[in-house]
Amino acid sequence: MGFKIANVELKNKLVLAPMYRVTDLAFRLLCREQGAGLCYSEMINSEALIRNNKAAQALSLSCTEDTPLAMQVFGARVESMKKAAEILCREHEFDFLDLNLGCPSDNVINQGAGSALLKRPKRIAEIISSWKCFEKPVTAKIRSDQNILHTIKLAKEIERAGASAIVIHARPVKQKNKGLVDFVAIKRVKKAVGIPVIGNGGVKNKAGFEKMLEKTGCDAVMVGTAAIGNPGIFAEILGKKPVAREQAFLNYLKLSHKFGIDSYFGRMKIHAVKFFEENKEKVLLFQKTKTLEELISIAGSNNPG
Ligand SMILES: Cc1cc2nc3c(=O)[nH]c(=O)nc-3n(C[C@H](O)[C@H](O)[C@H](O)COP(=O)(O)O)c2cc1C
Repeated sequence: MGFKIANVELKNKLVLAPMYRVTDLAFRLLCREQGAGLCYSEMINSEALIRNNKAAQALSLSCTEDTPLAMQVFGARVESMKKAAEILCREHEFDFLDLNLGCPSDNVINQGAGSALLKRPKRIAEIISSWKCFEKPVTAKIRSDQNILHTIKLAKEIERAGASAIVIHARPVKQKNKGLVDFVAIKRVKKAVGIPVIGNGGVKNKAGFEKMLEKTGCDAVMVGTAAIGNPGIFAEILGKKPVAREQAFLNYLKLSHKFGIDSYFGRMKIHAVKFFEENKEKVLLFQKTKTLEELISIAGSNNPG
């Protein structure tokens, strides 16, 4: 049921996607409890980390139970990406360094980072090479191109540069995170490289998980949107009883308090709205909250600690 990246054994084929403002340490621990076999951190800004930015540091927080973990970094400058990786390796426990090659946001693209790098295989190889000295296996998360030959060529170049696995989000950049998923692209990349390939895009349940494995032959499946506000998706896919979403949010509150994540109020609000999306009355109340205390009391717990 599992698979292996470099020398790290993964207990199953279920991977939590990197998601900005979502996959913080507290959220990852909930997903692990529900069965996720490998988790990705949200994207960490290399330049911000180097500047000692407080939020970038908080986002790169991990703990002993938060394993196996891929720490995802974005940036365009080789020097900065190397420095950021050095800081992460020095200060945090994790298993893989991941290179973000898929972010479609204008803000990131304008820095020459994320999906802007898809057109610069030489720069990608330089970044991956600069990470070799840290002796952490590297993964790279790409997007499929409308021209499948470009995708295959890029995947091979990434493998040649020394990556230990490729994640392919099988939607072109212009589709962002919605719409049709190109199973053929995943299948062709899997055939073209010798390293593990993690397929990503549109998986919402057990049937979707099984379909992606079967149709593409990928080694593992990464779940994104379907896990937001619903870490129980992993238990569901594994055929186990999932935690109720509202209960899961109370657990999230406790963990985020423990790790100081609850000081990022905007993030807490985003999570609250998502976890409670089936309870419209509470969603309206969450949208109006201005303090963490209010948010906790709406969620139904007065004691997050
Ligand atoms: C809210 C949100 C934040 C995301 N942030 C990141 C990110 O930080 N790094 C990244 O590589 N992809 C990011 N993605 C893309 C996801 O990792 C994933 O590739 C995408 O959602 C497709 O998977 P899905 O169809 O299961 O949602 C984000 C997606 C969403 C919805």
